[in-house]
Amino acid sequence: MHLPNPLMLAAGILGISHSLFKRVAEAGAGAVVTKSIGLHPRQGYPNPTIVGVESGFINAMGLPNPGAKEFAKEINKSKDIKLPLIASIFGETPEEFSEVACIVEEAGAVAIELNVSCPHAEKVGAVIGQDPNLTSKVVKKVKSSVEIPIFVKLPPLVTDIREIAIISEKSGADALTVINTIRAMSIDIETGRPILSNKIGGLSGPAIKPIAVRCVFEVYEKVKIPVIGVGGITNWKDAIEFFMAGASAVQIGTAIAIKGLSVFQEIKEGLRSYLNKNDYKNYMELVGIAHRN
Ligand SMILES: Cc1cc2nc3c(=O)[nH]c(=O)nc-3n(C[C@H](O)[C@H](O)[C@H](O)COP(=O)(O)O)c2cc1C
Repeated sequence: MHLPNPLMLAAGILGISHSLFKRVAEAGAGAVVTKSIGLHPRQGYPNPTIVGVESGFINAMGLPNPGAKEFAKEINKSKDIKLPLIASIFGETPEEFSEVACIVEEAGAVAIELNVSCPHAEKVGAVIGQDPNLTSKVVKKVKSSVEIPIFVKLPPLVTDIREIAIISEKSGADALTVINTIRAMSIDIETGRPILSNKIGGLSGPAIKPIAVRCVFEVYEKVKIPVIGVGGITNWKDAIEFFMAGASAVQIGTAIAIKGLSVFQEIKEGLRSYLNKNDYKNYMELVGIAHRN
């Protein structure tokens, strides 16, 4: 897959309609990942679904989405956007994943990201990504159903993320996205109640960056397929850290809430001057250099 630059929009942030894909493209992203889409429409949890905490946010949206057939219309409209559009999908079973995958491929997605790592949705999400056998079944089923590349988005809370990475690669994944949010919660001390309606959500933003860097580093050592780094990237230095750990592209989510869409341009410019200053021809020369002895 050719990306005009290695900065992608992360799943779940703005990627819900043709007009928003367009705005993200105009802001300078190198690819757009959509909000995760399931087979059937889903309302998600009642508010509050997101809360700001030290160095990040905790969200439990509950995977709200209009269902694959309805969302396919937004993908279909997006042929005017000259950027790779990657559809993030979820499901309860390998068959459900495969049905959604076929719908988004038909609509024009150029790749699929399997969300097997949502930390706060029952029956879907991390329950799959934390189980190597189930992950393998989902990846194999989707791989045999579509022709476009598939990325597997891994959960950080597993005994050993390398095990899930290896099994995903063996089952046919074309790339791995590392990491999704991390289970967390926040309590209102005036009322003594959890703030989010779902009580527990997923932590994102700068707070999780060192964990994400470690996960990318560990996964890179074990697989040959590309690793896409995500988690707390807010500036160009963060992006470089992920490349050095082994990411060949990165995704940006929470930083958009902190800095706005100009963050794509800001990171691109910072990266460009770092490469010039240090005599690198291309950012790919940075990928994995933290693994040198
Ligand atoms: C409000 C919100 C919604 C999200 N929704 C999804 C989603 O639908 N699918 C998914 O795979 N990840 C979702 N994520 C996780 C992000 O894609 C990303 O993995 C995570 O936030 C870490 O990156 P960041 O620190 O740059 O935000 C969501 C994150 C946030 C903050």
